[in-house]
Amino acid sequence: MSKRDFLSTADLGRSELDDLLDLAARAKGKRPGQVLGGKTLGLLFFQPSLRTRVSFEVAMVQLGGHCINLSSDDLYELEPRDQAVMDGPAEEHVKDAARTLSRYVDALGIRSAQRAGSWDRERQELLLRSYAKYASVPVINLETSFEHPCQALADVMTMRENLVTLKGRRLTLLWCNHPEPKSLGPTHSILQMAALMGMNVTLAHPLGFEVDQDVLDRSKKLAQDAGGSVQVQNDMDTAARGAEVLYARSWGCTKYWEDAEREAMVKRSLQGWRVDEKLMATTDNALLMHPLPVRRNVVATDAVLDGPRSVIYDQAANRTHVQKALLMQLLK
Ligand code: CP
Repeated sequence: MSKRDFLSTADLGRSELDDLLDLAARAKGKRPGQVLGGKTLGLLFFQPSLRTRVSFEVAMVQLGGHCINLSSDDLYELEPRDQAVMDGPAEEHVKDAARTLSRYVDALGIRSAQRAGSWDRERQELLLRSYAKYASVPVINLETSFEHPCQALADVMTMRENLVTLKGRRLTLLWCNHPEPKSLGPTHSILQMAALMGMNVTLAHPLGFEVDQDVLDRSKKLAQDAGGSVQVQNDMDTAARGAEVLYARSWGCTKYWEDAEREAMVKRSLQGWRVDEKLMATTDNALLMHPLPVRRNVVATDAVLDGPRSVIYDQAANRTHVQKALLMQLLK
């Protein structure tokens, strides 16, 4: 039987997503027991993490298994390109690392959200896809610059807990200013998963911060098929008005992906793109969501992050439960 990876929101159809969310809800209510006793998950972090790392470790422990964590400091520099002549800094090919790790662990998780050249190159998720190609065990995307599907699972679980049904609900995905260029992964993944759930999604950003066109096209199609919609809005106030969920998040400019200074210059006039009480008051008593980490009083004010409609810690907590469900499905 061939192994199954979880690299993208596209790896789940609607009924599979519903099954996984139902399993996660059951796993949250009552621990499933030691169903993954003796299993090992290898986690490779090429970027920092708090939530992803800890929630996967806790998920495996609750299921009776355990994790091995490696960071880029522990690993040789890796070459992801096929047939590369390895006379540069890379000491090991992903092919060899992935095949070797597959002899030790039962699944692999990989975080590789980093700037590695142009957006055209970045969107190919070379390191993740190369691991998936050569590993003989399931590979899980722990975030690339293109997708963060585990975060989106937790986001959808959190929305379901609060709104019960998601079809037709108004979700605004709001770009917020941030001093650093950020991954598009969380935005791309929740956009597609919310569309799959039939939500009416407004994607709000200033001109120049468009998401990947293929992701936007796919989201529109998914929403249409599910009875929802996806629209783009370049005015923050219009986008927030009447929202039932306001999801704040910054993301980088794909046009200047290789030029962080240029992006910073563009963002100087965009400091008004942040969530505060005034903006929240224009919504339909919206839930406030953010995947964390968040720059307080830059992306969103303390008052809203600590306010009664904020579900940011529920999103983080639900990472453990959706990942237990995912691990059970991939490793059973
Ligand atoms: N949201 C999220 O993935 O958090 P970490 O970067 O801390 O893992």
